Amino acid sequence: MGNDTLTIPSPADFHVHLRQGEMSELVAPHVAEGGIDLAYVMPNLVPPITSADQANAYIQRLQELAPKTKFLGTLYLHPELTPEEIQRAAASGVRGVKSYPRGVTTNSDSGIEDYEMYYPVFEAMQKNNMVLNLHGEVPSDEEKGICVLNAESRFLSHLEKIHQNFPKLRIVLEHATTRAAVDCVRRLGETVACTITPHHLDLIVDDWAGRPINFCKPVAKLPDDRAALREIIREGHPRFFLGSDSAPHPLANKYPSASSLGSAEALVHNCGCAAGIYTSPILLPLCATLLESFGALDQLSKYVSENGRRFYQEPAANGKTVTLRRVNQQVPCVYVHPSYSASSDDDSKKLQIVPFFAGKTLTWELEQ
Ligand code: NCD
Ligand code: ZN
Repeated sequence: MGNDTLTIPSPADFHVHLRQGEMSELVAPHVAEGGIDLAYVMPNLVPPITSADQANAYIQRLQELAPKTKFLGTLYLHPELTPEEIQRAAASGVRGVKSYPRGVTTNSDSGIEDYEMYYPVFEAMQKNNMVLNLHGEVPSDEEKGICVLNAESRFLSHLEKIHQNFPKLRIVLEHATTRAAVDCVRRLGETVACTITPHHLDLIVDDWAGRPINFCKPVAKLPDDRAALREIIREGHPRFFLGSDSAPHPLANKYPSASSLGSAEALVHNCGCAAGIYTSPILLPLCATLLESFGALDQLSKYVSENGRRFYQEPAANGKTVTLRRVNQQVPCVYVHPSYSASSDDDSKKLQIVPFFAGKTLTWELEQ
């Protein structure tokens, strides 16, 4: 293998949002286009996925839309979730349960408020070898001094407490953004792991303030936090790996324009932009480009394949690999659902997604 190609064992993305309806039709096939063979899919649909039957129907639908990819399903942690349903879900192939603290991100209105009420569910998960996926932020609360910049570090005591009470339960702290989170996961036991997104390896606060394309939850933090994420990937630590948190939103929700909102009054009440960064169609070349930029290209295989697969007990099929070639390629500015023709249809009616790195150059591409 020369310096200009890289071959790695079957890559896996252990945190991806593939939505439903038309959006799903557009984005599910992008997982394979981005070089990923295995996708662990988040349950924050509308309504959220809270039963084994719903999860299995959803995974089957994704499998029809994108037969080349292997999809693994999850449930949304919710007061009605019972230990019996956990057992049913585990027996039918559902691999994990995702917890969203209430109101902190997209479609988290049904999220959790207190973990102790879920201990019977965690007990059943531990027994059935299921993974607990934590969105590690507490809700903003001015009286308690909590805002988006410290929401993750203030969450870590919850992680530690759940781990203490359920030492055998496999837990993933999702999309870590802070040095505090990296240090915490490193300190905890073998059953605690952490996903790191490529965008958090690249962005800091300045990149999303005023720029909806780079806005996601948790928000990217300070340069020293980004340095900690880069260091742990450069080290190849076995419990840190790729979960892209690729989270597509229609262009109109990322950039609500004054005209689409109608009146100035509507604008005042509804001027926010959706949280979520879209990376699925460029994922592996993006990871290679970024890791190379901070001297960690030799850890690519651990980051995108080995570490996550080991933790999730999903070994790569023997001999299944993906090869990247060193070639400059420009990231498209927009992905459009195929049912809309590029030229004739009214732009405002098309389903369009602007990806991360739009218009920028990646230094690697997938070998076809
Ligand atoms: C995610 C989404 O859009 O579903 N958004 C995000 O900013 N990451 C939800 C999530 O994982 O927090
Ligand atoms: Zn997510």
